[in-house]
Amino acid sequence: MKQRTKLLPSKAGGDTTCEPTRGWRGWAYTAAALLLSVLLATTACTSSEETVEPDEPPPVPEDAAYLDPGLPTEERVEDLLDRMTLEEKVGQMTQVDRQFLTTPRDIAEFKLGSILSGGGSHPPENTPDGWADMYDEFQEQALDTRLGIPILYGIDAVHGHNNLQDATIFPHNIGLGASRNAELVEAVARATALEMAGTGMRWNFGPAIPVPQDPRWGRTYEGFAETPDVVGELGAAAVRGYQSGSPTDSDWVLATPKHWIGDGGTEGGEDQGDTPLPREELIELHGTPYEPAIAEGARVIMASYNSWQGEKVHGSRELLTDVLRGEFGFDGMILSDWGAIYQLPAAEAGQTRQSIAAGIDMNMVPDDYRSFISTTKELVQEGELSESRIDEAVRNILTIKFEMGLFEEPFADRGHQDAIRSEEHLELARESVQESLVLLRNEESTLPIDEDVRHIHITGRFADDIGAQCGGWTLEWQGVRGNVIEGTSIRQAIASRAHRGMDITFSESPDGASQDLQAADLVVAVIGERPYAEMEGDRNRIDILPTDVRLLETVSAGEAPVAAVLLSGRPLVLTDELPMMDALVAAWLPGTEADGIADVLFGDVEPSGRLPMTWPRRNEQIPIQVDEDRGGLWSTEDLADTGYGVVDERETELNAEELESLPLFPYGFGLSY
Ligand code: GLC
Repeated sequence: MKQRTKLLPSKAGGDTTCEPTRGWRGWAYTAAALLLSVLLATTACTSSEETVEPDEPPPVPEDAAYLDPGLPTEERVEDLLDRMTLEEKVGQMTQVDRQFLTTPRDIAEFKLGSILSGGGSHPPENTPDGWADMYDEFQEQALDTRLGIPILYGIDAVHGHNNLQDATIFPHNIGLGASRNAELVEAVARATALEMAGTGMRWNFGPAIPVPQDPRWGRTYEGFAETPDVVGELGAAAVRGYQSGSPTDSDWVLATPKHWIGDGGTEGGEDQGDTPLPREELIELHGTPYEPAIAEGARVIMASYNSWQGEKVHGSRELLTDVLRGEFGFDGMILSDWGAIYQLPAAEAGQTRQSIAAGIDMNMVPDDYRSFISTTKELVQEGELSESRIDEAVRNILTIKFEMGLFEEPFADRGHQDAIRSEEHLELARESVQESLVLLRNEESTLPIDEDVRHIHITGRFADDIGAQCGGWTLEWQGVRGNVIEGTSIRQAIASRAHRGMDITFSESPDGASQDLQAADLVVAVIGERPYAEMEGDRNRIDILPTDVRLLETVSAGEAPVAAVLLSGRPLVLTDELPMMDALVAAWLPGTEADGIADVLFGDVEPSGRLPMTWPRRNEQIPIQVDEDRGGLWSTEDLADTGYGVVDERETELNAEELESLPLFPYGFGLSY
């Protein structure tokens, strides 16, 4: 369950003059409020007819214009907006994680506009019906209000419906980027939308379209590539896949290109750090991918935690309104990130005022909704925040709800549940794995595995670990370990693909003395990174781990050639270890369907992936981008005298200094058989 106290700085740190802290004053206020509500309740109970209700807004006539689906959306929005109280408007701007609801009744009580599930925030029963039941219950609450405005429910389905137990989990974006295949990305997004729709989920906080420049960043794998053109093309394809058909279709899923702007360009790859670029470069490198996404019809964009030149994006009117709306022409909803407005350097009221005035329409609070609502109402009542800005934000929110037909069809369409882990989706996932693999080294044609190989020994702590294959944002925010989700591990995939009569042995960590290892004709060594998400994946250095170095030393001491499969969210520095690997396949974070890896290892499918990121030779080179983009596949002949893929200058015309200035493998590199 994603609990990010670190990022939700205590609001008690706010300015006590304008906001009761959680200190003694805070509790005093609370006690007084409780006492008052008890008093009110008792008087109300004894003499309800005498109690003068505050000016209760009038009931809504059945023929109210906004309830008529035959009217233009704009007309419905304006009619509804005119009927709304300030409280109802601010409620629409409030997004709460389901885990923080005191009771589902608060959705009605506080007229909440949106609920989300952050990473790992699944319903107690993590099944398709468990999700749909939860969604429908929440929707019932939202409809049980004066205006009956349905909620939007958002989730991070960033590589499949990944919070749902036993959904199809596809490769993370970096692997899809290696495929360079926009149609594949669109198909994966469409499949994800279908697996979401049956559970009531019609809002995806994706695609992430960062342009990662520094692989030390823990979210590198959420980016398609280090170049804005590839990110733009594949990001737009994902939007097309989610938002396919008519917006009122029950499997049309609202996309959310994220995070605007500069998330992948922070100093040192620090998650939520500062992106110091000049304005032009910031927009050119990190803004460009939003153009095709907006052109594709993106209706929501999520703001980014990072700062630009020291100013938090969430508080920047220049970036959120002047650039995104003014220059990029975006006319949809701008959503904050998780608790991000509370990182602004101000007291809570100031943070709220600044972020909404800058252009945030909906606040992913995600916990203390009472405080956000009361603070925002006060800001408007005190003239600190214009009601016209509130109206503009609510207009953007309501427009989407009407466009999606939520007023007419607010509940889950469970008919789509058949799509979850359907044969078609598993086949698609397998294909996406095949196309995501990048063959980086293949000495003596170690691969593909041919009939002469009669005994394969598989080793590595991730070789039989579907959780490790999936990486972060899988069942839990930080991902999971082990075969705790339906799918096929690398070990299982190789065993099921093996030639008749072939011996397959396995050890999680190799024992040089073992008979299995010594008798093997080929060793498949699975190395890489354990699952992580966001700042938990930030690294100062990106060397492969010592445990994998030791594993390679052990297996390479034997006679059998070693084919390494690397599970990682980014390039890792492995130059010194390269000679211990006769073959090396970058598999990124492939998801649940490792059959796609066996297909390539056995040569049923040619490797066709090309590096989406430059592969550093040394940590000291980072960040390193190489302009040269060969784009196409390379043959081993291509490599002569390039210096790529070699660690010893005796293997190339280049001298040691020239070699050290090059990446180990350039952007766009990939071998074929
Ligand atoms: C996170 C991420 C964002 C995600 C949101 C909700 O902090 O930055 O990508 O959509 O929270 O889980």
